[in-house]
Amino acid sequence: MIAANEVEAYYESIAPFYDLELSDRHDVRFWIDLVRQLRPRQLLEVGAGTGRITIPLARLVAHCGGQVCGLDLSAAMLQHARAKLARSAQPWRDCLRFAQGDLCTFDLGQRFDLVIAADDPFAHLVDDGDAQRAFANVARHLNGGGVFAVEMPLSRGQDIADRRSSRCSVQGERTIVQADRRLDVDMVQSFTPGRKVSRVVFRYQLTDGGGHTLRRAECSFDGRVRRPDELEALFQGAGLPVTTRWGGFDRSPFDPTRSGEMIFVGIKPS
Ligand SMILES: C[S@@+](CC[C@H](N)C(=O)[O-])C[C@H]1O[C@@H](n2cnc3c(N)ncnc32)[C@H](O)[C@@H]1O
Repeated sequence: MIAANEVEAYYESIAPFYDLELSDRHDVRFWIDLVRQLRPRQLLEVGAGTGRITIPLARLVAHCGGQVCGLDLSAAMLQHARAKLARSAQPWRDCLRFAQGDLCTFDLGQRFDLVIAADDPFAHLVDDGDAQRAFANVARHLNGGGVFAVEMPLSRGQDIADRRSSRCSVQGERTIVQADRRLDVDMVQSFTPGRKVSRVVFRYQLTDGGGHTLRRAECSFDGRVRRPDELEALFQGAGLPVTTRWGGFDRSPFDPTRSGEMIFVGIKPS
């Protein structure tokens, strides 16, 4: 079973930094183009977080008379999403709702033409059984012919640890500056041979234009690292044959040796 309390505590700590941290991820355009292409009437984002992607997509879907739902486990992330939605313009904001629920068990009582999962909410489902349940649950929420698009960063750290039979760490430091705020992010991800679950530690420091610290946090989680064949198997197991495999937000073909992302698209047979 998932450690829902740990996931909630982790996202409560990072929610204040989340949108700024991901402001240079350049993935929103990818999802907008996908929605323009598929023109769903009913769209669901699972693991919608702060609505970073859900809200721009809702603007588009509402324009064509459709409806959007963003589902997430974390009350803190949803609080940010709902606050942003409340600041948005009518009438399209009435076409979007956020719901709290667990990927493995949610039941929205309706079906969708398109379900998306951006920036790997499945990382928190470390057990295969939970991930299988979550994919099956998404499949249940799809109309026949409906599409499920999943994006996961592709990490090679686990392969390196397995090959060397020793622990391996990947480190990253980033600074994001926007208006009068500066966010420094340090990340260390540690891989243990044969474990498939990495330990990820983030340190955040938010400062204002005068260099004063506004907020700091250190938080960590155990994140499941999935290989392309494991992601493929999750789709297959849920009865959603994979029809498209991209390796980045530029829609380059997926290449397991070079790609930074796995963006796989499965379709529920009609
Ligand atoms: C990395 S964030 C991605 C948020 C959003 N998709 C984005 O790209 O901005 C992952 C999200 O998945 C949510 N999540 C993790 N485990 C979940 C679960 N079991 N059920 C529902 N949501 C979950 C977290 O609360 C978090 O908001």
